[in-house]
Amino acid sequence: MPRMSDTYTTVDGAAIGVLMGSASDWSTMEKCSETLDRLGITHECNVISAHRNPHRVARYCETAEARGLKAIICAAGGAAHLAGVVAALTPLPVLACPMKAWSLEGLDSLLSMAQMPKGVPVATFAIGSAGAVNAAIFSAQVLALSDHAVREALLAFREEQSSAVSELPPRGR
Ligand code: RP5
Repeated sequence: MPRMSDTYTTVDGAAIGVLMGSASDWSTMEKCSETLDRLGITHECNVISAHRNPHRVARYCETAEARGLKAIICAAGGAAHLAGVVAALTPLPVLACPMKAWSLEGLDSLLSMAQMPKGVPVATFAIGSAGAVNAAIFSAQVLALSDHAVREALLAFREEQSSAVSELPPRGR
């Protein structure tokens, strides 16, 4: 019987796992989840702290590949070790989202994630919501290599984004 602190939530058919070190990361990672939804990608979101729930991290990673996940997106702030720990526990690609936590505007998180020692990489994205959205899009690009529906959704997303750029700057300034 697992301890409460070791349990996590799964979603049937999820291709992407989204992990965050704290519930306080959700206001940023919600943008990642919304982007995955927009691209039609089934995913599951869990709060799993590498230092507060080390056994939950291990249990999640040990089952991730067998459950059908294709990549794991990890968000953390401060000494942001969650992505590195997850990458050490699974062969799945790990995408890292640095959070602006309580100091240094997220630079601490960015360097913690980007400066992984050689041998266990994590793909690190921009600090904050830009990185959260881009991690979702990048994971879609990985899935699109073998999933036609995701590829079509990505192409439509990019077309919509391109069309939204107006030719002229706003007038009246
Ligand atoms: C990290 O510390 C979390 O990922 C979060 O970004 C930061 C602050 O966490 P809380 O103190 O708000 O739980 O572990």
